[in-house]
Amino acid sequence: MKILVTGGAGFIGKWVIDSLPSDTEIVIIDSLDPQVHKTSQNFAPELKARAVCIKDDVRNIETYRDIVEGTDIVIHLASQTGTGQSMYEVSKYVEHNANGTAKLLELISTLNHRPGRIILSSSRAIYGEGAYTDGQTVYYPKGRNLHDLKQDKWEVYSTRGEKLSVLPMRETQLPKPTSVYGLTKLWQEQLLQNYCESQNIDLAILRFQNVYGPKQELGNPYTGIIGIFTNAVVQGNTVELFEDGLMTRDFVFVKDVAEAVVKCAFYDKPLAATINIGSGKAVTLLELVQTLAQLTGKEAKVTVSGRFRVGDIRHAVADTNTFANIFGEWTPTPLKEGLAQYLDWYLTQSPVDKTAFELSLAEMEQKGLLISKHS
Ligand SMILES: NC(=O)c1ccc[n+]([C@@H]2O[C@H](COP(=O)([O-])OP(=O)(O)OC[C@H]3O[C@@H](n4cnc5c(N)ncnc54)[C@H](O)[C@@H]3O)[C@@H](O)[C@H]2O)c1
Repeated sequence: MKILVTGGAGFIGKWVIDSLPSDTEIVIIDSLDPQVHKTSQNFAPELKARAVCIKDDVRNIETYRDIVEGTDIVIHLASQTGTGQSMYEVSKYVEHNANGTAKLLELISTLNHRPGRIILSSSRAIYGEGAYTDGQTVYYPKGRNLHDLKQDKWEVYSTRGEKLSVLPMRETQLPKPTSVYGLTKLWQEQLLQNYCESQNIDLAILRFQNVYGPKQELGNPYTGIIGIFTNAVVQGNTVELFEDGLMTRDFVFVKDVAEAVVKCAFYDKPLAATINIGSGKAVTLLELVQTLAQLTGKEAKVTVSGRFRVGDIRHAVADTNTFANIFGEWTPTPLKEGLAQYLDWYLTQSPVDKTAFELSLAEMEQKGLLISKHS
């Protein structure tokens, strides 16, 4: 089996490479984007030992065509991943994520031996605010409005003003991305769906929730909320929680994600599915900080600032039944267990300066994307 992994040097990519069977031949295409790869512009020795590593942009298909000839499975992970950043560096996200996928498909269509299966790392960002209910009717809100947010109305309300309850995100619901990043992930999905259906290629679209775990780049200020909170908690700094700190996210451990990718790659029946990959548990950001503090033996110092990010969603949790229905079971790592493994790794890493993160917030504020209610 020959497997092409785009973005294979990234956080999730490293875990996927590690989880692939030892008798598979692997080619990695990764541009080693300096925003993600802060400390080294070389492939890690363990990747070089396991795979043919090509440092290139996924869009430069002419330069790596010959190397990927004969590929059986494509795992497409290469993407720009900063949701907030995508709201002002719009063309960069469209170029890398949408055009990157389009180019990859053009490449595949010129190969003598076409891959039989493609796995795409998509995102819960395509759901936007997701689905809510008042107990009777299901609503798919467009997103919260600025007027409500400026009055500390953080939750999602019906048009009659009643507070609604969130429902788990299901693959069948209508996508409604609230960010450019989410839009580009949806375009990746649609490009692949259209292409794979017409070419009779298997396709698994995996919609990841918030992935965390060892090996996530700590110096990238645009992604990885657990890394950002851990930096603050371990260094004894105060964590700023936006809104009232009670928004929820579904945190899924990276090893579970990598195993799901590999299960899809080697599933021995035809596969054409869109599958949520999450823990299925909603956790408030306040609980997350408290758990990190408990696990590190530190005090949880928190400021609930009331600031909010335009386009941020209030709640996210995955319905994980589809994965269990196809593969028989889905047993995600409990958050405390995953965080303990993460912290073991984190404490072996060099301390991260908070300046880059603070600059990224200032940048968002200056662009009108991070708002204080009094501004
Ligand atoms: N980490 C999460 O919480 C999360 C959640 C939902 C979806 N995803 C998706 O999972 C995938 C992997 O995410 P990750 O967290 O490992 O991100 P990451 O930034 O660590 O890895 C992405 C890799 O892609 C590379 N890359 C970026 N643009 C490229 C291009 N044009 N050509 C070649 N390489 C390029 C980067 O150098 C990096 O190594 C992405 O598609 C992302 O959208 C991640």
